[in-house]
Amino acid sequence: MIKLSSLAEAIELGRTYSGSLGFVPSLGGLHQGHQKLIEQALVENDEVVVSLFLNPIQFDSKKDLESYPGTLEADLKFLKKLGVHKVWTPGVDEIYPKTKPQFIVQHQEYREILCAKARPGHLDGVLTIVLKLLLALKPNKAYFGEKDFLQLRLIEDMVHDFYLQTEIIEVPTHRTKEGVAYSTRNSKLSPEGYKKAVLFAELLRSVSDISGLEKELISHNIEIDYLEEHFKNRFAAVFIEGVRLIDHQELNQIGSL
Ligand code: PAF
Repeated sequence: MIKLSSLAEAIELGRTYSGSLGFVPSLGGLHQGHQKLIEQALVENDEVVVSLFLNPIQFDSKKDLESYPGTLEADLKFLKKLGVHKVWTPGVDEIYPKTKPQFIVQHQEYREILCAKARPGHLDGVLTIVLKLLLALKPNKAYFGEKDFLQLRLIEDMVHDFYLQTEIIEVPTHRTKEGVAYSTRNSKLSPEGYKKAVLFAELLRSVSDISGLEKELISHNIEIDYLEEHFKNRFAAVFIEGVRLIDHQELNQIGSL
């Protein structure tokens, strides 16, 4: 596995590589959800680049940024084992040389729903870094998890709106055998907290009316950040042991899973 240690190297790769280049951007803290994205990228491309970049501008608080699990050594081992060709670890000072970003992407639609409302500025930060990474590397395909539903939708819209040439590939949510959506933040849960995360996933897909779900979550001391229905899906963000988890289910599957 080759390490792209500067922005210039990544730009040069994008400019000169003649095969099909697949790209999986990440914040690090890799898990089996990322593995699914990477495995698909490896099947569909000649070479795969994974970026590990803890993008400071998408965190709404310093505390959240600092508590994000940083596992660089483990991530590098994980990527090598999967057979990833190149890992890109840009420095914050390369991506944001003037400390603060000088330009940001500000999405206009959906500001009043889901994570866009609950975490103001978060998705602008995500779109900004994704645009920068895609413009630098110019991959043929970039892979994103369907778990981050609104993030994925806005990335698709941005790519379309700015005429980017990268095809965005949506990869279905990967779950543990108990049904919990894989997330870097799961590693911060105690065994008790994980049991609650299992219950959260179960209730989300089994309780048919949203007010009943709200009552159930409250009765199990699961703190609700939001519980909303849009795009024919039910979405929830909750806090378990202070760890924020998000998940969603298609409305027509609720009760049948
Ligand atoms: O979903 C993520 O891991 C991040 O939001 C992304 C897309 C890598 C941007 O930092």
